[in-house]
Amino acid sequence: MKRVFSGVQPTGNIHIGNYLGALRQFVELQHENQCVYCIVDLHSITVPQDPKELRKHILDVAALYLAVGLDPEKSTVFVQSDVPGHAELSWILTCNSYTGELSRMTQFKDKSRGSESAPTGLFTYPVLMAADILLYDTDVVPVGNDQKQHIELCRDIAIRINNKYGKTFVVPEGRFLKEGARIMSLDDPSSKMSKSAENPLSRISLLDDEKTIKKAIMRATTDSEGAIYYDLENKPGISNLLNIYSSFSGMPVEDIVTRYEGRGYGDFKKDLVEVTVDALRPIRERFQEIRPSQELIHILRDGAEKAGNLSEKTMKRVKERFGLGVE
Ligand code: AQP
Repeated sequence: MKRVFSGVQPTGNIHIGNYLGALRQFVELQHENQCVYCIVDLHSITVPQDPKELRKHILDVAALYLAVGLDPEKSTVFVQSDVPGHAELSWILTCNSYTGELSRMTQFKDKSRGSESAPTGLFTYPVLMAADILLYDTDVVPVGNDQKQHIELCRDIAIRINNKYGKTFVVPEGRFLKEGARIMSLDDPSSKMSKSAENPLSRISLLDDEKTIKKAIMRATTDSEGAIYYDLENKPGISNLLNIYSSFSGMPVEDIVTRYEGRGYGDFKKDLVEVTVDALRPIRERFQEIRPSQELIHILRDGAEKAGNLSEKTMKRVKERFGLGVE
């Protein structure tokens, strides 16, 4: 059995990009692997958070994990800050990473926008992510392809430490899906769909109702050609919608293109609304049942205990290799 680890930030508005790029894989992998899925609250404070909202968002993500199909009997589900090993290992890895390699991370460049007053945590975030992964001897990390660079960094740090201190970490592999690995914003298909984008119509959140989904899709940016086919460079808007259609319906993009030959964008978008609403309805209904239940808290406490036990084994090994603490 392989060990799988991944996480989602509790930064609100979990959207179909998070689902199609990451969460969908989490569910698929839990049947044949030992899966550890985290709500990465320590990552979320790299930008300011309202404490009350953050607590609420943590439980929202936990309920969504279960609503999309994670089974706590098969997957360990917990909150990152409940397991101290994440922050502890992060410091050790920080001392074994270079400012040069961190400055090359495109997500840091995007989020800090060159500001001198960007929080240091935003800069060291990829090291915390490496710690999250290495703490569980992870073989496979299912993520969207915006995380490719961070996974590469994690591998580099693991290999560097293994070479210097002897085999300490499993070197993980990223797992990226073909369709859904990068869902783009609906109003600007040159940037990825994101929780924090200002325009709510730039994304479809997993809990959006039919009316909101319809509004977002019908207003999605396309082009003036009027023909439906896949061309990422010249038709990024339509290509993105084809990707979403294909990911939700399971139909290959080529078959969708054939189906809509000679038909307009209006027809295609209307059907995409239906496909999306049908896919998200059961998730929304399950979320509404799970979210208020006390069971959710029990699952997270139980998950933190299991994850804590796994992480302690790694931390013991790491401390030995580095000569930290007493025997
Ligand atoms: N647009 C996307 N398409 C496909 N996958 C995506 N992911 C994020 N956006 C897309 C994947 O979702 C997982 C969880 O992401 P995260 O919570 O760590 O946040 P993020 O990558 O920073 O995504 P957001 O939604 O843009 O959040 P904010 O706005 O808070 O920064 C990851 O596996 C990610 O690859």
